[in-house]
Amino acid sequence: MDPLRFVRPDVVALEGYVPGAQRADALKLNTNECAWPASPRVAEAVQAVVDGLVRYPDPLATALRVDAARHYGVTPEQVLAGNGSDDCLTMLFRAHLAPGDVVAAPDPTYGLYRTLAGVQGARYVGVPYGEGWAVPDLAATGARLALVAHPNNPSGTLAEVDALRRLADRLEGVLVVDEAYVDFAEAARGPCSLIPYLGAHPNLVVLRTFSKSFGLAGARLGLLFAHPALVAQYAKVKDSYNVDSFAQAAGRAALADTAHHRDVVARTLDERARLAAALAAFGWTFPDSDANFLLCHVGPDAERLYRALGDEGVLVRWWSRPDLRACLRISVGRPEHTDRLLDALRRHGAAG
Ligand SMILES: Cc1ncc(COP(=O)(O)O)c(C=O)c1O
Repeated sequence: MDPLRFVRPDVVALEGYVPGAQRADALKLNTNECAWPASPRVAEAVQAVVDGLVRYPDPLATALRVDAARHYGVTPEQVLAGNGSDDCLTMLFRAHLAPGDVVAAPDPTYGLYRTLAGVQGARYVGVPYGEGWAVPDLAATGARLALVAHPNNPSGTLAEVDALRRLADRLEGVLVVDEAYVDFAEAARGPCSLIPYLGAHPNLVVLRTFSKSFGLAGARLGLLFAHPALVAQYAKVKDSYNVDSFAQAAGRAALADTAHHRDVVARTLDERARLAAALAAFGWTFPDSDANFLLCHVGPDAERLYRALGDEGVLVRWWSRPDLRACLRISVGRPEHTDRLLDALRRHGAAG
């Protein structure tokens, strides 16, 4: 008997999301994790949770939501926590999309959006980015849910706040602005988050993560900000205890240590500048990045370099799709990581 007969045919046909490789022994410049550890306060906070593990976690992560609301200038009713921002995305897709509904995003962008659409049986429309990575008109797709990563992954480019607000106004649906990397942008440019505009746009949802600038990718913690009426719907479709006690405590401690966070973001920007200058000397080009990675146009050597680096334990990201196959996406590491990467690239003949 073939047990696959009992699986939804569209799930059998689905191409699952393939995350960047995780190898404990490698230099990981492939999944845009933070190059520096989280605040030391996180370890203390997590330790303090151990004695309470006999209990379930707070299903709504109330203390974390209260802290986050204060930190980001909203009310707790506008905040929901997820098991990573991926979990927040899952709630959004569940809540908004029935089979056949349209979900749209600029292309290329974070690959999980397409996978989640597939899981939901929704129709995913990727609209190519315009010249200079300008956000295309997603309203024309008739999408019920539109997503823009701001800054975008894999390009590192920032959308214009006014353009996003106009899109929210025009869309007959909900606009999700995925701000996984926005802390790096704000440190360089000043305010560019959409959180302050939530009150003006009831169909706007903003996502944040603790996986990038806060150095907590392994804790799995993300935040969703939206109109309280929407938050109440998402709370209904989330897994009941979606954020464990460790992650709730870790997030509160990380948010409280603003000096550590500022310092890590500043170091990342310094090292990004050094990495960019070194890679530009190879003749590589990249869009101006507002994130903790660079999308380098390498040319026909990209796949060979990706494999050669991987063989010696230096992981970067490469995709086989035609518009990205000449590119490598490289996360910003610590200075010694940059040195090791550059040394490996030179030995493998990257120098232009
Ligand atoms: C644009 C974007 N959104 C969301 C995520 C996922 O973040 P999390 O670790 O919070 O699930 C990533 C991770 O790479 C990302 O690039």
